[in-house]
Amino acid sequence: MKRKILPLLFVFLFTFARADEGMWLLYLLGDQVYADMVKKGLKLSKEQLYSINKSSLKDAIIIFGGGCTGEIVSREGLIFTNHHCGYSAIAAASSVEKNYLRDGFWAKSKAEEIPAPSLTVQFLVRIDDVTKQVEDALKGLSGSEWSAKLQSVSQEIVKKATDGTGYEARVVPFYKGNQFLLFVYERYRDIRLVGTPPESIGKFGGDTDNWEWPRHTGDFAVFRVYAGKDGKPAAYAADNVPLQPKYFLNVSTKGVKDGDFAMIYGYPGSTNRYETSYGVKLKTDIENPAIVNLRDVRLKLMFEEMKKDPATRLQLASAYAGIANYWKFYDGEAKQLLKYDVYGQKKADEEKFRQWANGKPEYEQVLPQYEKAYADWQPYAKHRIYMNEGILGSPLAAYAASLQALERALTRKTLNTEEVTRISETLKRSRQMFLENENKASDQNILAATCRMFYTDIDRAQHPEKYFNSIRTQFGDLSDDSTFKKFAADVFAKTIIFDDARWNAFLAKPDSSSLQNDPAYRYVTAFLKNYNDRFGKYSTEFNNRLNDLGRMYLKGVMTMNPGKVTYSDANFTMRMSYGAVKSYKPRDAVFYDYVCTMSGVLEKYKPGDYEFDLPKELIDAAKKKDFGLYKDAKYNDLVVCFITTNDITGGNSGSPVLNGNGELIGLAFDGNYEALSHKIAFDKDMNRTICVDIRYVLWCIDKLGGARNVISELVLK
Ligand code: ARG
Repeated sequence: MKRKILPLLFVFLFTFARADEGMWLLYLLGDQVYADMVKKGLKLSKEQLYSINKSSLKDAIIIFGGGCTGEIVSREGLIFTNHHCGYSAIAAASSVEKNYLRDGFWAKSKAEEIPAPSLTVQFLVRIDDVTKQVEDALKGLSGSEWSAKLQSVSQEIVKKATDGTGYEARVVPFYKGNQFLLFVYERYRDIRLVGTPPESIGKFGGDTDNWEWPRHTGDFAVFRVYAGKDGKPAAYAADNVPLQPKYFLNVSTKGVKDGDFAMIYGYPGSTNRYETSYGVKLKTDIENPAIVNLRDVRLKLMFEEMKKDPATRLQLASAYAGIANYWKFYDGEAKQLLKYDVYGQKKADEEKFRQWANGKPEYEQVLPQYEKAYADWQPYAKHRIYMNEGILGSPLAAYAASLQALERALTRKTLNTEEVTRISETLKRSRQMFLENENKASDQNILAATCRMFYTDIDRAQHPEKYFNSIRTQFGDLSDDSTFKKFAADVFAKTIIFDDARWNAFLAKPDSSSLQNDPAYRYVTAFLKNYNDRFGKYSTEFNNRLNDLGRMYLKGVMTMNPGKVTYSDANFTMRMSYGAVKSYKPRDAVFYDYVCTMSGVLEKYKPGDYEFDLPKELIDAAKKKDFGLYKDAKYNDLVVCFITTNDITGGNSGSPVLNGNGELIGLAFDGNYEALSHKIAFDKDMNRTICVDIRYVLWCIDKLGGARNVISELVLK
């Protein structure tokens, strides 16, 4: 298999974006790409895809929460997105008595919808090309000066674009800083939960099936966006009204066939398709294994407590799902990078570049400098991961780290009491949030375990030595597990963070020495100061060098391939990807069909299992084959999920999958295991997007949820 894939990867990087690779910016959609879409089955005009003057498909697509996509599906602001995108809002709306995460929920009228205060959605208003203005400001700059200037000039541009409008905006670099676009958004703040299937449907298959096909998950949830009476964004108010959107999607119940055109709009978060061989090696050798190691331990310690008590399970569910999702991703990514020898491919690409750059002063040092930047950084790379994913993987330690702002304010030469009061107020609120989510039992074990892992896995010469010595003096031999357990117990028993009386007394009259003597604060700052004072400069320098080199490298690659139609890396801006519904062969002798069905759901059913249990109503209805008009004629069954060749990534979750007429046929919710290296290299044979079929979504809403009110709001085709 490797042999078959190597030359293909090689070709795409330096010739044309081809096959179904590409996350296209509709704002800049070229005729060539549009013509290819039409050839493959698109029936819409360019104006219908994206228009600045008239309402178009793009007006139905929203940023959902902080890192997902959603789409408007009715004239009353109804939103479809993934269950895993609504997960934390659903968990927050739940209690042990009214456990919507476990049992599902359907509002039978608007009055029953549940406010989700942590959620907002953003509509894209417009895009401006600000490259000239930004580049003029950045001329001659590099490193941290370049970044600082980019920030200040972006602020000016944003201010000018949004002043007095109520909009917000962001300047975003494209092509690694060779182009800059301004995105203007309108953010709505009153979002309500309309309905969700139980977790046993919405997260069916759990982490075992996550990132894999075949997959039988009903990964959807339904929300609604509300506006003030004037249709403008407003804070939650009982008498706000459903938003009347500029555009909403129609829903197709016709189903999919192998080879059908499929188009996905959404907000892919990040890719790095021009990652170098050095970067690939750092990931496979150091970064990914370290992340996986640390997350593995944290997850086990969380799950131990979740098993004991339903309240803890609900409390930690969302954090657990988030950590587990990328635990499996990073593991799979490293494995696929190695399996496909992406390192070797990058080396071959770089060889071409090297030959081309030879004798061109602007470019010939790019690769040697990359090599040097990685070599200089390599000794500290693991340490950085162990800080972010290890030491700060303890929620107590992470909260304690946020107290540093207070210490800084308290130790200024001239005390600014206003600043101290302001920070104290913020900390009061954030402590409340921290305590609500805090499970002390698992956290204490996490702190002990990650501290110990740091001690054993990180180069001695990089340790906060004095601090480890103090643990040794107080609690015993550091090669002994129980030492770290005793130490963590002591931190948890003595910190003021869990003690209302001492905490309030401290905040009433904050002083730096009480803070510096708090054991949780001492713990986390010992590691942070050690890292920042001794190695922070290398980290900053490394980031600056990558930034400068990336910009030059990509400029070089584009100069080397003039006229190449190319797309920019994902950066959480709205993109469109097109492809087809398509079966595949994951490995020798194995064929994966393009759909999976209810029969497969029942095959996977394991009564009482944490991941593969099912609600009784589903089993009953499925056994009766009560599928109504949602049944697939060819399979004589209910199609649950399907796969397409579309190029998407994290952030696209919840994205609408559309047919050639722009009608909704499914929701994208995952990528497949065989292409988990997709952030760095799109694999034209293996890459698949996993989608929940809209007919399964409708069946769950209608037959299981009994929410005819939701169905009747949709326009079904
Ligand atoms: N892998 C999916 C994504 O990143 C999320 C799936 C959530 N489910 C889970 N079992 N953690 O979009």
